[in-house]
Amino acid sequence: MTRQERRVSSPRVINVGDLRRAAERRLPRVVFDYVDGGAEGEVTLRENCRAFDEVVFRPRNAVAVSGCDLRTKVLGSELSMPMLLAPVGFTRMLCPRGEITAARAAGKADIGFTLTTISGSPLEEVAVATSGPRWYQLYLVGGRECAEAALERAKKAGFTVLAITIDTGTFGMRERDVRNGAGVLMGRSQFAKIRFLPDLLAHPGWLAGFLRDRGMLELPNVIVPGRGPMPLAETQASLARSVVTWEDLKWIRKAWPGPIVVKGVMIGEDARRALDEGAAGVIVSNHGGRQLDGVAASLRALPEIVKAVGGRAEILMDGGIRRGGDIAKALCLGARAVMIGRAYAYGLGAAGEAGVTRAIEILRADLQRTLALLGCESVAELNRSYVDIPASWATLGS
Ligand code: GLV
Repeated sequence: MTRQERRVSSPRVINVGDLRRAAERRLPRVVFDYVDGGAEGEVTLRENCRAFDEVVFRPRNAVAVSGCDLRTKVLGSELSMPMLLAPVGFTRMLCPRGEITAARAAGKADIGFTLTTISGSPLEEVAVATSGPRWYQLYLVGGRECAEAALERAKKAGFTVLAITIDTGTFGMRERDVRNGAGVLMGRSQFAKIRFLPDLLAHPGWLAGFLRDRGMLELPNVIVPGRGPMPLAETQASLARSVVTWEDLKWIRKAWPGPIVVKGVMIGEDARRALDEGAAGVIVSNHGGRQLDGVAASLRALPEIVKAVGGRAEILMDGGIRRGGDIAKALCLGARAVMIGRAYAYGLGAAGEAGVTRAIEILRADLQRTLALLGCESVAELNRSYVDIPASWATLGS
């Protein structure tokens, strides 16, 4: 066990905030900020977490609850708890073979793993790394032919659910990344990277792993026809042209026989449209506050989406989950499961697989304890009667 692995596995690491601090210590600033930061004034990033604080529990006390059942099934995927790892781009910057490492931890914990299009590892290698459910997330970077080829590969590799992200009409303004020159780090010019030298050298543990890995400079699942893998330097520009439209959903449905879930739904109207276009589910998400700043917290948007969907499809949410109690609140408000992004990415940056495992363990233990304290036997029984929301939330969307 490395020192980092020992550190995150120690009882002193109690919550996701502790993993965040450990990641902050281990990672160069430019890498940490890429994960930790949001768009513009980071209002939505903060709101995502704050919204959970505004929801309060209504426990049924004087009830003896032993061994609450956390298992659930989402879009055909059996999960040991109502949680999947969200698609997170460029995790190879956080830890060697980042996606493969995180997928392995998800599999061991029997939760789902969602691989992003902008991953630094071939999807086939990620697929074999996990014994749990595999979902694939699609951006149209590289265009339609490129996407069709990736979907074909994903199907063959055993990915069962396709998540389509619809909130990237253009790229969000991540001010920390611009200030830190994150684009330069991903760019082609080795000379320009000299500016990072002091930051990188101050994090020798991370640097040794990064140099050993040597793998983050391509996107092996974005094979541009006639050209090969898309260089990382082109991603930002192509992400800005990668919006998936409702029209695209028509050909994507033909190319993907399994369930499709639309990610980035923040208003009832989009939820209804997604279902009309054949989606089996929606993910209430504002991209972790990384795209449109000033949009509502995901949790706050959830009741409107639940009403619009009216039980016709499964609903997931992401954004702001830092504790198991947050998962319980999302389920009480109608989500079937949640996705975590930063919560696991901090663990990955802090200590690789051990860090991701620790993040999952923490959230699982939290959720188990929350259910017991609520007097609730299983996640399936969580409902609106276990929480109160502020009166002002009811007017959202009306
Ligand atoms: C990519 O999806 C990102 O949010 O950085």
